Amino acid sequence: MAKRVVLAYSGGLDTSVAVRWLMEEHRVEVIAVAVDVGQGSEAGGEDWESIRQRALAAGAVEALVIDARREMAEEFCLPAIAANAKYEGKYPLVSALSRPVIVRHLVAAARAHRADAVAHGCTGKGNDQVRFEVGTRALAPDLEVLAPARMWGLSRAQCVDYAAKWDIPIGQTKEKLYSIDENLWGKAIECGIIEDPWADPPDDVYTLTQISATDPLELVIGFDAGVPVSVDGRTLAADELIAEVGRRAGSTGFGRLDMVENRRVGIKSREIYECPGALALIAAHADLEDLTVERDLHHEKARLEPRWSELVYDGLWFSPLKNALDAFIAESQRHVTGEVRLRFEVPGTLAIHGRRSPVALYDHDLATYDATDSFRHSDAEGFVRLWGLGVATWAARQGGRDAGRPLDPNPPPRQADRT
Ligand code: ARG
Repeated sequence: MAKRVVLAYSGGLDTSVAVRWLMEEHRVEVIAVAVDVGQGSEAGGEDWESIRQRALAAGAVEALVIDARREMAEEFCLPAIAANAKYEGKYPLVSALSRPVIVRHLVAAARAHRADAVAHGCTGKGNDQVRFEVGTRALAPDLEVLAPARMWGLSRAQCVDYAAKWDIPIGQTKEKLYSIDENLWGKAIECGIIEDPWADPPDDVYTLTQISATDPLELVIGFDAGVPVSVDGRTLAADELIAEVGRRAGSTGFGRLDMVENRRVGIKSREIYECPGALALIAAHADLEDLTVERDLHHEKARLEPRWSELVYDGLWFSPLKNALDAFIAESQRHVTGEVRLRFEVPGTLAIHGRRSPVALYDHDLATYDATDSFRHSDAEGFVRLWGLGVATWAARQGGRDAGRPLDPNPPPRQADRT
């Protein structure tokens, strides 16, 4: 039985109740670890000191706040950009990227404080429990993982009562509209009215993509070896750059997603996301790859990208296949250097209006139809004949499939036309 537990603490109702519940039910000491991955952006960030105090008020023997924004940006968001990562072709993995960052810090705190378990506040229905637990297993197979919210069977109202009974200061009431998870890469919104996949998401679910711009917006993103490094010529650190692109793209209303997705635990769920920065940066990056990555490498990478996204979604950030794919992707990014010009129209559309690179594989003189054309047209004749040789032989010897079928000048009437 564990004696000391490191809990992933958000400051919300569930994890606050979890502090006391672990103490009472498991007789353990709780060390609360709150990891800043860029949540609360529209309020200029969370009030971390009051979150820390709340953990202590709930009974934690120690409460730590860790600023992991740059780490999240550099070690998690940048690889996601390189992988053009979108789960099921749409969702840029907002929550899935932050859980391994948090896991890293839980494990580090467990080691530093000689804890024998970590804990999280996830329920049994979601992906985040998978990410916390599989991630912890990968980094520290000896640590136990406790999931109080999966064990306690308390309703939200009962949690509020529990908090009141133990004098745990919480801001929430028994009503809660949505379940929200936010970080540098965007925001995920679940529960409430949006659980009806037919229902319009109410306007109040959106915070990062409320339109404040009146005019179209142009942004030039500079990349160096697959890494976005500048906005309009200004060099920025990864976390600043992601925040800046997110803020500006979001002001045009760009970055909303409304989708039904397949969770790892077998449930389809309706999700609303706001990811203006993530979606804009991935679009820009993918476009620059079109210009700079050799064809076969590009096609192979495109086949591997969905796999990378699935692994990360499914909690396998720390896993051998993911590591091997990372090595492939890193190699593919060597020449993804240049600039992409993005234009956002109000409300909420993005088009790529230009791209350039000192190492572009686009060769104007090869592509052009004007006088500077350097393409050897005579090479095409033999090339195309050989390309079609197999098909020509098939047609001659085996008749092909449609060989010799004359076009019928009076086709029979279609079903719908008959009377
Ligand atoms: N469905 C998304 C995912 O699995 C978002 C999860 C949001 N998490 C939350 N606790 N609200 O990545």
